[in-house]
Amino acid sequence: MANVMEKEKETKTTKNAKDTKKSGLHALLNRQVANWAVLHIKIHQHHWYVKGPNFYALHVKFEELYEEAALTMDQLAERLLSVGGQPVSTTKEIAAAATIKEHEPFASASDMVQCLRDDFSMVIEETGEAMELAEQEGDEGTHDMLLELKTRLEKHVWMLNAYLNE
Ligand SMILES: [Fe+2]
Repeated sequence: MANVMEKEKETKTTKNAKDTKKSGLHALLNRQVANWAVLHIKIHQHHWYVKGPNFYALHVKFEELYEEAALTMDQLAERLLSVGGQPVSTTKEIAAAATIKEHEPFASASDMVQCLRDDFSMVIEETGEAMELAEQEGDEGTHDMLLELKTRLEKHVWMLNAYLNE
């Protein structure tokens, strides 16, 4: 009897430890969902307010990137649901979970590009943290999805840096 109780206790402890870990990964995925929701509107802001000699190129590029942001948000939210989580789905929840900062529109196009480069760089770091946790969890699906995202963002950062001549 004692053995059975011990076993049950052990199982519970393992389960609790697992749940705590899982909720950690869920929180990191939710931060991503929130950040991509904010980036979706923030890149629209760049798209609407960009001015200057590079207007046409940047207006189109920002459109491509906000469309990609919407797809990324959806992909991450649906992954979160697939692993038993609950994605943020109200602007209040998004504001509470996001780490991307919002601001009034920039006057200069290069400030917009720099800001986007910095936002993407921050998301790359956060993606790395979530990847580590997914790996510890043995959650290969989430890990691979995040790796694809990180690789895609690294390419965007390279291109934005090339635009800035940095
Ligand atoms: Fe548009």
